Amino acid sequence: MSARAGHLPVLLDTILELLAMPAGGTVADLTAGRGGHAEALARRGGAGSRVFLLDLDAANLAFAESRVRAVDGVEVRAHHGTFAHADQAIRAAGWRADRVLADLGFASTQMDDPLRGFSFQAEGPLDMRLDTSRGETAAELVARLPEAELADAIFQLGEDPFARRIARIIAERRGRAPIRTTTDLASAVVAAYGARARESRMHPATRTFMALRIMVNDELGALRGLLTALEQGGRALASGSSWLQPGARAGIISFHSLEDRLVKHSFAEWEREGLGTRLTRKPAEAADAEIRANPRARSAKFRVFEFGTESAADR
Ligand SMILES: C[S@@+](CC[C@H](N)C(=O)[O-])C[C@H]1O[C@@H](n2cnc3c(N)ncnc32)[C@H](O)[C@@H]1O
Repeated sequence: MSARAGHLPVLLDTILELLAMPAGGTVADLTAGRGGHAEALARRGGAGSRVFLLDLDAANLAFAESRVRAVDGVEVRAHHGTFAHADQAIRAAGWRADRVLADLGFASTQMDDPLRGFSFQAEGPLDMRLDTSRGETAAELVARLPEAELADAIFQLGEDPFARRIARIIAERRGRAPIRTTTDLASAVVAAYGARARESRMHPATRTFMALRIMVNDELGALRGLLTALEQGGRALASGSSWLQPGARAGIISFHSLEDRLVKHSFAEWEREGLGTRLTRKPAEAADAEIRANPRARSAKFRVFEFGTESAADR
């Protein structure tokens, strides 16, 4: 990893193999991040290839863009926005994608920056927005949500068995003073855990922070939007009006069981409907060596779908 990138791209070799970027092809990296995957795909595509970069985080997008622009002979476009509307952004560029990649969630640089508010490890404003130019912060969400909704979110998105108690303590504390910082929130969760905090393998606030991050950024809603855009793109291939090229491959790396379930069910359904073929029946996962070098890779699950293949058309 270059020190400046600050993020190791997960499952890089597997992605390069399964996406099999064609020479001179067009790839849409919908979570450009620090550009690790995008640069490698651009090098595979070589001169004459095109790379469409998209990210909610303007600083990451600019970093990835400059990294891919350094690859000789590759045309680059960058778009600041959500991948839920990737189809519109690519159409607006007048391009069609041969390959689509989405590496969900956050980059290490975002987690490591206390000012972004993603981590309970360091004090910072309770922000958690991937796009800092708009939307409600985690502090605003924690102030606004009724206790029961907070509890449901921490239970469903964070899968924390103490969700009700955590929500109760948050509600009590915010009644006395606003919860403004990562430390304010983390200490409320630790108080809710009480003596159980010592028995917990992970920091008690891990699941609550994850739940809030998913909510602040509507991560499941965005993924549903992307899956709809891909499905519509697959259906439009027959009429030639798609944002995808025939034979396009879409790869999605997820880090949360709810995300992986959405991807898995969509890909299976599309295959049943004859839109194409799953190239991964089971998700590709990181080997031990990668997990040792990059613990974040532990929960990565990569699934790939190929649209408009002969086998699908024959069915
Ligand atoms: C795991 S990182 C991607 C890292 C990248 N593959 C690399 O090699 O550096 C995820 C990136 O996706 C972005 N992101 C998350 N949700 C998004 C969304 N709905 N639309 C666009 N970008 C999103 C984040 O801002 C972050 O930069």
